[in-house]
Amino acid sequence: SATVLAGLMFTPVMAADMTVGFSQIGSESGWRAAETTLTKQQAEERGIDLKFADAQQKQENQIKALRSFIAQGVDAILVAPVVATGWDEVLEEAKDADIPVILLDRTVDSSKDLYMTAVTSDLVHEGKVAGEWLAKEVGDKDCNIVELQGTTGSSPAIDRKKGFEEGIAGHANLKIIRSQTGDFTRTKGKEVMESFLKAEDGGKNICALYAHNDDMAVGAIQAIKEAGLKPGTDIKVVSIDAVPDIFLAMENGEANATVELTPNMAGPAFDALAAYKKDGTMPPKWIQTESKLYTQADDPKAVYEEKKGLGY
Ligand code: AHR
Repeated sequence: SATVLAGLMFTPVMAADMTVGFSQIGSESGWRAAETTLTKQQAEERGIDLKFADAQQKQENQIKALRSFIAQGVDAILVAPVVATGWDEVLEEAKDADIPVILLDRTVDSSKDLYMTAVTSDLVHEGKVAGEWLAKEVGDKDCNIVELQGTTGSSPAIDRKKGFEEGIAGHANLKIIRSQTGDFTRTKGKEVMESFLKAEDGGKNICALYAHNDDMAVGAIQAIKEAGLKPGTDIKVVSIDAVPDIFLAMENGEANATVELTPNMAGPAFDALAAYKKDGTMPPKWIQTESKLYTQADDPKAVYEEKKGLGY
């Protein structure tokens, strides 16, 4: 069972006198940078001493950081796991040291006994929402889709792919013709989109782009423009995150839809830790954040203004 939380609105529960280690993946996307900013802000507001480690996209750096947090005897550990596999050993070590571990924004394939809770969205659902939106948008028309996947082996890349396929299932007119990783970055998103365009008659054979995050979509939009096509019109663009820049693209008619992922994963995590510290209350194994669909009809300029400043 999961507790579903709405975006950024909640009152922080104080958890002073706590030292928490946070192993962050890196800063591959605007969303990731906002999550880092908000985690630091939320810690400060609650009087938590946060030890921050940037893993530069490498799991081995995350494992080293976790071991260092364990050696320092922190009260708890937050980790945004870059990939889903390979965590058992270090999670066992944290468990043996009685240090609760909370997963932020991504899941792992380890046993649930090895961590306290996971604060994530329903990553499969996000992909499904994107797929269903596209199926509705396209109607009966034949539509060749290209897909930019997130980091290989990461839970959002696996789950968003699966969800999207579920979302378009039953619509034989919709076909994924190319799918490749863009590693959740703008640069890679642009690069891979350029290769898709080249391979598909300069893009004439492509009807839609599905990107596992907005940053890759923003990079791809640039590639589509440089190929002389109109993103949002010639090629529909649907992605995930709801970072401010995608709303600018929507306002200009260059992106069509995005599914929101709150960058405030740390707030609910710190609340769970505060409750646990107070009287031993265990949180549910999954604290689920909301996934909301935005389209061009949702006043993108206003949403852009609203988002700016909320960690972005
Ligand atoms: O795990 C969440 C994903 O990681 C975000 O969608 C993406 O932008 C980030 O890098």
